[in-house]
Amino acid sequence: MDKKKAIATRYDSSAEIYDNRYNEIQAHKYQEILSRVDFSESSGIIDIGCGTGTFLGLIKQSVNGNGKQLLGVDISHEMIKIAHEKFPDIDFIVADSDNLPIKDGTFERIISVTHLQNLPEPHNTVKEMKRISTKDASVVISILRKTWTQEELQELIKKSDLTIDDEWIAEVEDIGAICHKS
Ligand SMILES: C[S@@+](CC[C@H](N)C(=O)[O-])C[C@H]1O[C@@H](n2cnc3c(N)ncnc32)[C@H](O)[C@@H]1O
Repeated sequence: MDKKKAIATRYDSSAEIYDNRYNEIQAHKYQEILSRVDFSESSGIIDIGCGTGTFLGLIKQSVNGNGKQLLGVDISHEMIKIAHEKFPDIDFIVADSDNLPIKDGTFERIISVTHLQNLPEPHNTVKEMKRISTKDASVVISILRKTWTQEELQELIKKSDLTIDDEWIAEVEDIGAICHKS
């Protein structure tokens, strides 16, 4: 089985327990991002590797998501099934983040939280994130610091021709960066 299929299968089988086990820790990461990124003026927001959709639900609630295009993407059917059940008025699709079925220059806020560590070639995903972003978009990456150092994240962002506007080492688990197209 290839690595991506194996990962999708792993998340399929943990989807039912995911929120119970991880919502508390993920909430710290969402607050870190919400304190740094303005979602209120952006009409298109996408969460890549969205899991059960919790962050998009929170964004919709905190910035009055009505009228915004909110989209969650995940490779795991079971994660997306739960996301649909939790947030029927948000769009969710099953797709591989290395091949997003989305036109160039579509979204103003592109988010990836604790997701890139799953990818065999994370550079391909960051390139996709850049491709689907509008000219003035913010690309937001939060990643487990036990898998990557801040220098490695900076290197990946530079390689993808993105420029860092802000970065952080969170108290809990992750490092992060906000970037725009160079
Ligand atoms: C640790 S979970 C994080 C979920 C969510 N971002 C959160 O904050 O809880 C990682 C997610 O990435 C998804 N994922 C892994 N590889 C992926 C890929 N190639 N394309 C899209 N999603 C992927 C998994 O299915 C899983 O839902």
